[in-house]
Amino acid sequence: MPLDVTTAILQRRSIKTFKPDPIAPEILLQLVQLTIAAPSSYNIQDWRIVIVADPDQRAALGAACFNQPQIGQAPVNFVFAADIKAGEKDVTPIIEQGIQTGAWSEGTAAYFKKAIPEFAVAIGDKAREYAIKDAMIAATHTMLAAESLGLSTCMMNGWIESKVKAVIGAENDPDLAIALVLPIGYSAEPRKNPGRMPFEFNVSLDRIDRPYHG
Ligand SMILES: Cc1cc2nc3c(=O)[nH]c(=O)nc-3n(C[C@H](O)[C@H](O)[C@H](O)COP(=O)(O)O)c2cc1C
Repeated sequence: MPLDVTTAILQRRSIKTFKPDPIAPEILLQLVQLTIAAPSSYNIQDWRIVIVADPDQRAALGAACFNQPQIGQAPVNFVFAADIKAGEKDVTPIIEQGIQTGAWSEGTAAYFKKAIPEFAVAIGDKAREYAIKDAMIAATHTMLAAESLGLSTCMMNGWIESKVKAVIGAENDPDLAIALVLPIGYSAEPRKNPGRMPFEFNVSLDRIDRPYHG
């Protein structure tokens, strides 16, 4: 039985050592399904996810991540990349799917078709930031889905983007940004919680200067 969302959120920890046990293909498939169920701006689905499972590829990815050992140990690593220019490309298949599913009326679809490229222009050099937001939301889905399915993860920022891109074969694509590397596997260590600050530290009510006390 998968863990419920609340339990998965509360028990999850960033795991730094993994057993060599493989992830069964049907579990991997479920992880991918739960990942791409994530929302994205205009449903543009601008994440590009590379599943790095081959041992040589994992070793190369580990080297691109300052040799952090969890990359090579975990049987699978998801590299979350993002297409910075997705909003400028042909979004017809996404629009048509929205109509086919019955989720979007013809009016909504027409609005989206116009709004998506306009928004892409309006955000200008923030396009990278917006694409990375979507990829991070997908990565958060993966992280919690993995926990729910008995797996562990460690979100990772510690890498050199150009090197990660070279490992996944995207070194010549200037429009692809790397958002996150996520090793996934069966934990080989106890869950240790480094704790969180009290709400007052960074949660406020109505205005930033009115601390929330719970
Ligand atoms: C965006 C992001 C990047 C992170 N990068 C790394 C990393 O490169 N290496 C690492 O060991 N942990 C990394 N962490 C894990 C954090 O250190 C960890 O989430 C934090 O200490 C809180 O611990 P917890 O996840 O167990 O609650 C990262 C976490 C996040 C959210």
